Amino acid sequence: MFVVIKDTYEQMSAEASKILAHRIRTKPDIVLGLATGSTPLALYKLLINMHKKEGLDFSKVTTFNLDEYVGLPPTHDQSYNYFMWENLFKHINISPENVHIPMGTSDDIERFCEWYEAKIEEKGGIDIQLLGIGANGHIAFNEPGSSLGSRTRIKTLTEKTIEDNSRFFDNIKDVPVHAITMGVGTIMEARELLLVANGEGKANAIKNTIEGPISTNCPASVLQLHPRARIIVDKPAGAKLEGTYRHIPFKYTSSHFED
Ligand code: PGA
Repeated sequence: MFVVIKDTYEQMSAEASKILAHRIRTKPDIVLGLATGSTPLALYKLLINMHKKEGLDFSKVTTFNLDEYVGLPPTHDQSYNYFMWENLFKHINISPENVHIPMGTSDDIERFCEWYEAKIEEKGGIDIQLLGIGANGHIAFNEPGSSLGSRTRIKTLTEKTIEDNSRFFDNIKDVPVHAITMGVGTIMEARELLLVANGEGKANAIKNTIEGPISTNCPASVLQLHPRARIIVDKPAGAKLEGTYRHIPFKYTSSHFED
């Protein structure tokens, strides 16, 4: 794993956006795995800027999002579908038919999940998957205890996640209690992983992910088994790490990550 500790959230976001932009330029028809949450907001803004000012081209890019709340239609302002259009897609030249986000209002979730997995395969698999991390170590909605071989399916949110996400809802009772999420196994099949985390609230999760045992108690710790995983954190999120992680310039590590 490459561990990159940046001083600030802005620097963390700049580093991650630089990597994504590089991958898009190198492979214009790239398949991106995308994430929602507060963490990637600034990096999405930077990608939008690169599109507007430098012509970063998304016209051939395909995307798959990690997860979606069950029960929220795409028009709901707390759905992840709405989030992605508001914070990224409507500002870039992506083709709507190339965007894939789990359908939270599907009336046959099991079949939908099978379709989603098949679609990822049909598109040739995910080239690079962007990930956030929960304070409890979850990736997507794979909460502690999730099978490390799991595929896209419905999951129950933990009380901790419901509490964390209630900041976006008027009332904690409005937070959906189920989500459709790519599985840990699905995520691990991406050719490259890029996990971003900021703030002291993530420090324990980052410590367990990078220096803890591989365990379902911290689903993100499975990244230790991935040959091309990069974790970029700000100082507060990296504060509990004990190892030595010196900055390696991207020019030395970029080709290492090429197929
Ligand atoms: P956050 O969520 O970016 O809003 O902290 C990350 C996550 O729960 O995966």
